[in-house]
Amino acid sequence: MEPLGDLAPDQVPERFAKLRARFDREAGVAHDENSWKSLRDFWAGRKSGVLTQVADAWLKPAKPDLKRAIGQALNELKAHVEAALESRRLAIEAAADQGALEREREDLSLPGVIRALGTRHPLRQTFEEIERIFLSLGYSVVAGPEMETPYYNFEALNIPEHHPARDNMDTFYMSTPPGAAALLLRTHTSPMQVRTMEKKQPPVRIIVPGKVYRRDNPDATHGFIFHQIEGLAVDTDITFCDFAGTVEYFVREFLGPKVKTRLRPSYFPFTEPSVEVDATCVFCGGKGCNVCKQSGWIELFGAGMVDPAVYGFVNYDAQRLSGFAFGLGVERLTQLKYNVNDLQLYYQNDMRFLRQFA
Ligand code: DAH
Repeated sequence: MEPLGDLAPDQVPERFAKLRARFDREAGVAHDENSWKSLRDFWAGRKSGVLTQVADAWLKPAKPDLKRAIGQALNELKAHVEAALESRRLAIEAAADQGALEREREDLSLPGVIRALGTRHPLRQTFEEIERIFLSLGYSVVAGPEMETPYYNFEALNIPEHHPARDNMDTFYMSTPPGAAALLLRTHTSPMQVRTMEKKQPPVRIIVPGKVYRRDNPDATHGFIFHQIEGLAVDTDITFCDFAGTVEYFVREFLGPKVKTRLRPSYFPFTEPSVEVDATCVFCGGKGCNVCKQSGWIELFGAGMVDPAVYGFVNYDAQRLSGFAFGLGVERLTQLKYNVNDLQLYYQNDMRFLRQFA
């Protein structure tokens, strides 16, 4: 800034007004931090700012009669400069904040990735429903190995080597080293009857949900993997009545209160007597239709009183103990409950099929 020069007594208001106008002009174009700092140093700098210069050049040498007027004008200019500097500072800061906010803004309007919520697989739903029913009767749920020995899968269930009951249970054998025990994929969940009784004294009340395997070609009613739930109850005084009552209760819980059950004589090596549990046809209510081949009845699952021979394999006292067992086919029960006409549908992951079980 050019030197202020002398101040004639009649120039005080005019010269101060000029300074103020000049400050206002400069302040009006200070839009960022740097230009604001130069403005501040130029006008309010302690050593050589304009305000200091005014004090040195005009106020200090002034005659006593002018000092008062100059002092007052300087104070007013000073107050104006300080107030304006402060408000500009705040404005610049606010603008910087605003800029940062705009630059760093997250765009929340972009739609997220919406993943369709799946549903539980129908077989899983049947597992859970059956587990719920038997848990409510005091049964516990146990799991067993899918790779089994012939002993647990067959022999200990009273199915000796050349027994014809093995015919429909052809399965997959593991290649094991010569001399090592043979291993196969279990053909049913029944081996867990034996494994459980080996470890636990009565009372036993278990269900065994799981996968089973057979060397079958896939079609509408066969698969090489399917699912079963084994059941076993053994205690000191379990009667056929307890067995029939449990079966009937289960069927009504699972298929509905209108369904009637019937026990039809059958044969399994590990039960005696053995039965097939039938229910009145869920599709026609027992009147007769295509599904039940006009009989009014449909076959649900196999069951029976545990054969004493099985107790022999697990050191249970057959004189003192009795019990019953059942083997539920999960695919079949799901099929009857939801009218599924092809077993393969369960395994194909076809959304049109699966969505119907939401
Ligand atoms: N394990 C038999 C099968 O897979 C089903 C079965 C029948 C299980 C009668 C049982 C039973 O526990 O009592 O063909």
